[in-house]
Amino acid sequence: MIPFFRAADVEAAVSPERAVEAVRQAFLAYARREWSMPPKVYVPAYPAGDFRAMPALGAGHALLKWVTSFPGNPAHGLPTVAGIVVLSDASNGMPRALLDAAAVTALRTGAAAVLAAETLGRPNASGASVIGAGVNGRAVARTFAAVGREVAFWDVDPERARAAAADVGAGMAGSRAEALAADVVATVTPGKEILLAEGGLRPGQHVSLMGADGPGKAEIAVEELARVRVFCDDWEQASHNGDLAHAVEAGALRRDDVTELGAVLAGTAPGRRGDEDITVFDSTGLAIQDLAIALAALERAAELDLPQVPL
Ligand SMILES: NC(=O)c1ccc[n+]([C@@H]2O[C@H](COP(=O)([O-])OP(=O)(O)OC[C@H]3O[C@@H](n4cnc5c(N)ncnc54)[C@H](O)[C@@H]3O)[C@@H](O)[C@H]2O)c1
Repeated sequence: MIPFFRAADVEAAVSPERAVEAVRQAFLAYARREWSMPPKVYVPAYPAGDFRAMPALGAGHALLKWVTSFPGNPAHGLPTVAGIVVLSDASNGMPRALLDAAAVTALRTGAAAVLAAETLGRPNASGASVIGAGVNGRAVARTFAAVGREVAFWDVDPERARAAAADVGAGMAGSRAEALAADVVATVTPGKEILLAEGGLRPGQHVSLMGADGPGKAEIAVEELARVRVFCDDWEQASHNGDLAHAVEAGALRRDDVTELGAVLAGTAPGRRGDEDITVFDSTGLAIQDLAIALAALERAAELDLPQVPL
């Protein structure tokens, strides 16, 4: 028998604060090459969406997340992101737990957006705004709130922004321009529309770009990326998907222009150099983040009343 963590069980097991710490340790372990992560495999099912198979190995365990991005799903009452995480013992290959992939994804996405913002943002930065008030936007806002940062939502659908603000206990930005002008911004949209045009950011701002995590998606103009200091979760993955991929294709960014967040956390590369820097973190979402959350959940298994799955 192995435990199954339903979405509510994942949330009960791992607080947003614990998620930030677990994800910080995962980025560090990956930067030190203690954890490894074969490339994520996309299985396109366009135009509806795509499947992703995301493996990682670390801390004596292996993980596979089988997860979707079907952007049109909410219109049919279904979530954009769904799937299952399998956590296995890396000493004998035996499965140890199954977890709801959407809940794991939301926790680790919120954690990465906030970890990047707290690492790269100005130390005296004030409030944060979250653009895109869907499942993962809410997770980002909840995590900002958990680390004590005031947060305001903006969404093309004002009803969704209102509902998310009430759910998370956050505020609402008066307009898209106001949201984009915050000291700390997280974009968590489907990546079909450029939110940040050339010249859109001002000195001192930080943006965690979370939404454009797959082929063809973008939230920032290539010209704007070329103008700011760029950080990413993983060069291999980010340079092939989403915002960075467009800039690399256009020849506007090369490997040397981009710093991995783990290197900043490990102290082997500089982060923000001063109050005038504009910092941008491009996230494509890593399986090592999922592994961090799955391991943190497993630590609490005995305290929760979890359904058991026969093997
Ligand atoms: N980087 C990562 O690790 C990571 C993790 C999970 C999801 N994602 C990506 O994040 C995106 C959002 O995922 P989700 O699960 O929250 O989706 P969702 O469908 O639940 O929410 C998307 C929200 O964005 C809003 N929106 C759409 N276009 C917008 C625009 N131009 N400006 C402002 N708001 C807009 C929608 O109204 C909706 O509320 C997807 O592209 C998904 O693939 C990335």
